[in-house]
Amino acid sequence: MKIGHISDIHWLDTTGARPGDFFNKRLSGAFNLLAGRAKKHSKETARMALEMLRDLKIDHLIVTGDLSNLALPGEFSAVRHVLDSYFEDAQMSIVPGNHDFYTGESLKARRFEKMIYTHRPGNVDLGTEDVWPFVNVFGDVAVIGLNSAQPRPWFVAAGRLGVSQLEALEKALNHPEVAGRFKIVALHHHLFQVVMTPGESLRQLEDRAELLDICRRNNVGLIVHGHNHDYTFRYVEPVLVCEAGSCSVCRFKRDVRAGKFNIYTVEERKLCGVETYRYADGAFALWQSYHFEGGEWRCRCPDR
Ligand SMILES: [Fe+2]
Ligand SMILES: [Fe+2]
Repeated sequence: MKIGHISDIHWLDTTGARPGDFFNKRLSGAFNLLAGRAKKHSKETARMALEMLRDLKIDHLIVTGDLSNLALPGEFSAVRHVLDSYFEDAQMSIVPGNHDFYTGESLKARRFEKMIYTHRPGNVDLGTEDVWPFVNVFGDVAVIGLNSAQPRPWFVAAGRLGVSQLEALEKALNHPEVAGRFKIVALHHHLFQVVMTPGESLRQLEDRAELLDICRRNNVGLIVHGHNHDYTFRYVEPVLVCEAGSCSVCRFKRDVRAGKFNIYTVEERKLCGVETYRYADGAFALWQSYHFEGGEWRCRCPDR
């Protein structure tokens, strides 16, 4: 089973937006875009990543949030259309990022749920009306999608899952449809600091220790996330925690910040390989791969 993972598409589209839509936290986001973010992310690069993932014949795609920049209707409608042009709805597990709930207004309008989820996001009935966590099972794999994003004050990008979502996660991990499968937990925010900038407390997941504890106790094999726009590969037995980076980055100062995506290979309910593809010189190519051998992860393309 091959599972693709992209994140932080940051699709910009102001179609239909009015000046009044920017008299809130979007003003700081708009300044960010003018200061460089709009040039770093390219729609063409995001499309290339999706095209390559389709050509590599993945069985399922996980998208770990920040599909938009400003949670505008035009962004959600455009990015959903692009995803639909490469993958069937049932082939995707999509969770929101902090940019997808950028304002209180976007939360109140339930814009992400209405425009990104064309159906209920999972295929397992957990017996609740809550959207998150949701569970998608396919073959011997179960993906559990979480929402770590919520509107925050200006300049704050931190995340929180909350007690009730964490309790629901533990229940979902023990659901009869999930317990015997290889379990992947997907969320937007990171668990470990890799970007050494000040103000980490303003952008990290507040209940990351609780999440990791639940995942380790319940034999989760893989946690995938986004948010850092950087690369993470951290094994905390029995859980591997991975971020490839943002799939749409076409301009970067350090190679590690280039556009990237991951492919995870699961065989007989075990994670046996992780491949990372990186954007360089106008195309994506295999950058490095890890294989689980003899009880440890070994890198086969050590060019970094
Ligand atoms: Fe992001
Ligand atoms: Fe983010």
